[in-house]
Amino acid sequence: MKRIGLLGCGAIGSLIAKAIDDGIVKAELAYVYDIDKEAALKLVDKLRGKPKVSEGMDEMLRDKSVDMIVEAASDDAVVEYLKPIIESGKEVLVMSIGGLLFPETRRIYEENLGKIHVPAGAIAGLDAIQAISLVGVDKIVLTTHKPPEALAYSEYFKNRGIDLENITKPTLVYEGPVEDALKHFPKSVNVAAALALYSRTGVLVRIVADPTRDKIVHEISVESKVSNLKIIVENVPHPDNPRTSYLAALSCIRRLQEICSS
Ligand SMILES: NC(=O)c1ccc[n+]([C@@H]2O[C@H](COP(=O)([O-])OP(=O)(O)OC[C@H]3O[C@@H](n4cnc5c(N)ncnc54)[C@H](O)[C@@H]3O)[C@@H](O)[C@H]2O)c1
Repeated sequence: MKRIGLLGCGAIGSLIAKAIDDGIVKAELAYVYDIDKEAALKLVDKLRGKPKVSEGMDEMLRDKSVDMIVEAASDDAVVEYLKPIIESGKEVLVMSIGGLLFPETRRIYEENLGKIHVPAGAIAGLDAIQAISLVGVDKIVLTTHKPPEALAYSEYFKNRGIDLENITKPTLVYEGPVEDALKHFPKSVNVAAALALYSRTGVLVRIVADPTRDKIVHEISVESKVSNLKIIVENVPHPDNPRTSYLAALSCIRRLQEICSS
């Protein structure tokens, strides 16, 4: 049975830990680590199995009996820990996919495809996009509709005088390449980052602040000489944790089931 160390004990990390604790994923959760130790302690309190609350990543990485790190923390954590995780000989599942788009992490990802797992997360169709990438994807456009309040964390709007609170109809508030979107919307680029990694091409990101919908909607358009794809995904929030999409959590848990059954 694989022994797992969890990096990040927030919304997604807690759902993953619970899936392991409930036996939905056949693995042992050996360690949890969070920069906010209280978050790690709170999570362990809710679990029947009692993983060790690690003082830092070094402890998990030194432990040779740990097979795999599950990252559910932040892009910064991916930038900081991807190299040491791979150097320690462990596999890693990455949820903060935007963290893999920086030149150094992207290089490590491309050189360690079998060891770095990237679940499809909140979208569908990545299998086809990956297949098409063998001959080349010509163009990908991702249009994401989000309630304005879900974008309020970004300084992008304040700096440009855009008042999200006064938006009353669907409004295109951002358009740019994924690498630029990553700088302005670090919490909103996982889907775009997954598309970029799986397609091996540039992705044009469009963000629509949409007060008319309560779901986050991703519209993906792919053009190639093999197929043209139109994918629309309407995601509901996770019933236990409205801060994350139900599909993203299920996608991660399903991927872990697969990895841990081998
Ligand atoms: N791939 C997808 O489809 C998908 C879906 C949802 C979330 N995510 C990503 O997964 C990550 C976690 O999401 P969440 O909703 O659970 O966030 P969250 O804010 O609820 O939890 C993140 C936790 O990680 C901890 N953390 C952050 N940086 C850290 C670091 N450098 N070292 C140690 N701990 C650190 C935080 O203290 C926090 O407790 C985010 O990066 C998010 O963008 C990806």
